[in-house]
Amino acid sequence: MSVRRLHPIQPDSFAFNAENLAWAKAKIAQYPAGKQASAVIPLLWRAQEQNDNWVTKPMIEYIANMLDMSYIRVLEVATFYTMFQLQPVGKVAHIQVCGTTPCMLRGAEDLKKVCQNRISHEPHHVTEDGKFSWEEVECLGACVNAPMVQIFKDTYEDLTPASLEKLIDDLAAGRKVKVGPQIDRHMAAPEGAQTALTDPSLYEGQRTFVRVEPPPPAPAEEKK
Ligand code: FES
Repeated sequence: MSVRRLHPIQPDSFAFNAENLAWAKAKIAQYPAGKQASAVIPLLWRAQEQNDNWVTKPMIEYIANMLDMSYIRVLEVATFYTMFQLQPVGKVAHIQVCGTTPCMLRGAEDLKKVCQNRISHEPHHVTEDGKFSWEEVECLGACVNAPMVQIFKDTYEDLTPASLEKLIDDLAAGRKVKVGPQIDRHMAAPEGAQTALTDPSLYEGQRTFVRVEPPPPAPAEEKK
């Protein structure tokens, strides 16, 4: 993972638009008085979405003021989590490739090569048309469907180099894409047909089970 610092070129200001401001006020009101700082992650996320999916210094200051937090506390949150982008990203997709062990063992390196060939050899470079960027990140919590990538809010799982190429083609062309597993799998269920607990009598109450009690412990020998 690369060092996470704010981009050297920053806009002059940030403010929520009317819709997001109303949303932010309602979100803050969900927390008890004095605990508004707990809203920092949802507010940063909403602000990031409003700003073409990257976080700016004025945005951090704006949210810190809203939540009565010091600037450094909000900066710490923004720089800690890779869900927050600290520089401009592709407007169509910023592809976060999970490179942690389960995904790495299942082909993440090949997915990275696709990103390098299609987008940029180096991460965090936006394509000339402004549509795509990519980076490698740590585990995104979908290991069972490794390898996977995250694009903004959505994850795309059970990928191969070919299916990632197709995903990039579809996104570039503005076609609708399927989120989640890219193979015949429902969410994190087993791939293909069911392979365990296949006997219906196991869960339809037709089978009776006999509880086997462990033998009683042997009596302790009397001390002489
Ligand atoms: S290791 Fe890739 S999602 Fe967990």
